[in-house]
Amino acid sequence: MPSTKAPIRVAVTGAAGNIGYAAIFRIASGAVFGPDQPVALNLIEVGPGLNALKGVVMELEDCAFPLLTDVVATGDLNEGFKDADWCLLIGAVPRKQGMERKDLLGINGKIFTGQGEAIGKNAKKTVKVLVVGNPCNTNALIALRSASGIPEQNFFAMTRLDENRAKSQLAAKSGTHNSVVKNMVIWGNHSATQYPDFTNATIGGKKATDVITDSAWLKETFIPTVQKRGAAVIEARGASSAASAANAALDTVRSLHFPTPAGDWHSVAVLSKGEYGITPGILFGYPIRTKADGSWEIVQGLPIDEFSRSKIKITETELLEERAQASEALGIKL
Ligand code: LMR
Repeated sequence: MPSTKAPIRVAVTGAAGNIGYAAIFRIASGAVFGPDQPVALNLIEVGPGLNALKGVVMELEDCAFPLLTDVVATGDLNEGFKDADWCLLIGAVPRKQGMERKDLLGINGKIFTGQGEAIGKNAKKTVKVLVVGNPCNTNALIALRSASGIPEQNFFAMTRLDENRAKSQLAAKSGTHNSVVKNMVIWGNHSATQYPDFTNATIGGKKATDVITDSAWLKETFIPTVQKRGAAVIEARGASSAASAANAALDTVRSLHFPTPAGDWHSVAVLSKGEYGITPGILFGYPIRTKADGSWEIVQGLPIDEFSRSKIKITETELLEERAQASEALGIKL
């Protein structure tokens, strides 16, 4: 019998792109919000993507998903974000040869300004927005500042791909399974300056540093491997990570929708209000717990040693630079 629950409406930009394509069928299947929760999809594309999107809609029809109530496919942001409960902002212009990072912040900054405005005007006031398109932390800040009427705490940038990568590396090194590696914080930016914090991680309930005692490996191999994993995937595949990025986006949504299991947390970037001494007003990767009422909190009081502090400072500095560059490119104070 069909569920009587109201559908959760999920808007996805870049819906026909590689990450979008890997994400939307799983949302429609019930893999994110559960087997008794209907979902509706608002699929957004630009230019040439619109034709491909027609094919994606045909494939969704051909899946006959019992939980999928309706699909909107559009190039219009107002229509696309209408009544959305969740927005997954995946589409972004990738950096091309000869482009400075600042150019990218300017180009994508304009995109995320327009998307933020359209979300503010059209989505539900309770909408939650996850930014995946890079540079995702600063794009999320731009969307947040542009979306009037939507609470700041409803904007997120994805660091879950880094969390998953970090857990997988620690599991492999310790000869354990991913499922027993917990308490992984990715501090800061989803970039090569991020700090995957092995000092607070646990493996099978023990401190990761008691299980992996090779401190040189943790500092000199583990950290750069996680930081540069995106680049390593691009090198091997000839294209950016897509299935793992989609998977991490859906993990993030699930972790923000359902309460966090006792004793653990998940990593996602939220607007800093100065927690752990970070400058307020940047989207910073923190350890987050989702509460039973659907709100979230930053896990407080984790020990930060001198090594961790120095790593966190580097990624904070980069995010402050990105904010300044985006402000300059857009001519606004973010
Ligand atoms: C990733 O971490 O795989 C991507 O963010 C890398 C990229 O630059 O697309």
